[in-house]
Amino acid sequence: MSTKAQTLILFGATGDLSRRMLLPSLCALDADELLPADLEIIGTARSEMSSSEFRNFAREALETFLPAHRRGGMADFLNRLHYSQLDVTTPEGYAELAAKVGEDREVAIFLSTAPSLFKPTIEGLAANGLADGNARICLEKPLGTDLESSCAINDAVAGAFPECRIFRIDHYLGKETVQNLIALRFGNILFEPLWNAQHIDHVQITVAETVGLESRVDFYDGAGALRDMVQNHMLQLLALVAMEPPGSFDASSVRDEKVKVLRALRPLTDAESVTGQYRGGASGGQIVPGYDEELGRESNTETFVALKAHIDNWRWHGVPFYMRTGKRLAERVTEIIVHFRCVPHSIFPDARLKPNKLVIGIQPEENITLSLMAKVPGIEHEGMTLREVPLNIAMPDAFTGKHKRIAYERLLLDLINGDQTLFVRRDEVEAQWAWIDAIRAGWEAEGKEPKTYAAGSWGPSASIALAERDGVSWHE
Ligand code: BG6
Repeated sequence: MSTKAQTLILFGATGDLSRRMLLPSLCALDADELLPADLEIIGTARSEMSSSEFRNFAREALETFLPAHRRGGMADFLNRLHYSQLDVTTPEGYAELAAKVGEDREVAIFLSTAPSLFKPTIEGLAANGLADGNARICLEKPLGTDLESSCAINDAVAGAFPECRIFRIDHYLGKETVQNLIALRFGNILFEPLWNAQHIDHVQITVAETVGLESRVDFYDGAGALRDMVQNHMLQLLALVAMEPPGSFDASSVRDEKVKVLRALRPLTDAESVTGQYRGGASGGQIVPGYDEELGRESNTETFVALKAHIDNWRWHGVPFYMRTGKRLAERVTEIIVHFRCVPHSIFPDARLKPNKLVIGIQPEENITLSLMAKVPGIEHEGMTLREVPLNIAMPDAFTGKHKRIAYERLLLDLINGDQTLFVRRDEVEAQWAWIDAIRAGWEAEGKEPKTYAAGSWGPSASIALAERDGVSWHE
């Protein structure tokens, strides 16, 4: 592999992800002349619609979700769009789709439908020759609800597509600053010699959201924060922080290293996790209802989780990775904090030396801050006064003139070009689920119930205690 796709088929083309992310990303790529000149995009969904109605639908989505300055050439982009009505659960419709695709075209397929529809869709594609040749398929999460259901999905896909043509999305890997983590670690000599248990005290990963259930009541209540956020996005972040340097930046090398980390995750003990569920409070300056009120009933689903993870290998022996994520928290922030150890001996008896800290801000701010001890200017009789100061790189300032891209732009382009580096391989997903399933089994065995927290706070106080027991404070 791989040649560029000439036809992109979007299943679930009239859905929310398509409106908010996929169509805007494709249009933005087109405006930047990054799409192959001959690329055609065929949307499919159950609703009856002509191609021109689909173009109208797309135009409205673009006008709503893509800033005007990124919509240059929108009319040309809309001309690339076609529509093919298809109920994926019945065999009819696939032949018409195959006819629309035509002969000898390189095909990329994006499934953004419910996972329960993956199997019939794949069978329909395979039966109509749409899985042949170089055809590649991209799957949107959730890829199952546990290891068993994830294996069933993976088996169904593997029945028609080899692994080298399967692209599993984790949209966090499409975020610039997440890729920057790889650049920071492996494009600089500075960090690698210190990137181990000898010099790092602990790592924190926070993915905090201010939103509540949004319109996903049923999905979310069946998932919870552990499966919705930790199983995928947070474990991918952890794997990128903790992996060994890959031999090169290609799909096999990077994923070989990530999966070793995921397999080395130690099962958690009871005391190493805290779950929470929000109650009413104030978020983003507004009074918001509690989870149970939004849901209309009581539920045991966690909207917050904090974990203390360990990676059982030489590099990370004894280094805790504290992770927390939740809905309706105080701020929207995704960041990774690497806390280095203190200097082994201080020559400044009067100064309280603070350990260095590397903060990688992923969103909403994209920045990298290294906190250092520096001398406070002034003339003192004895010794020196030192204070912690930040060495701050704000990415938008460092790279002015570059616009912020939607994470899906990178991933859709890689799918079209056939590059799997930023997609998740089967063994990674399954290692992630195996670890998550063990946590959930532990919760079930101990009858763990989520502790309540007020919307707009940083989660239940037990989460603070989880870190403070080790003398660690969450970075806020
Ligand atoms: C999705 C989760 O995968 O990621 C959502 O299902 C969550 O619950 C979203 O809100 C967060 O993504 P981002 O890019 O806004 O951090």
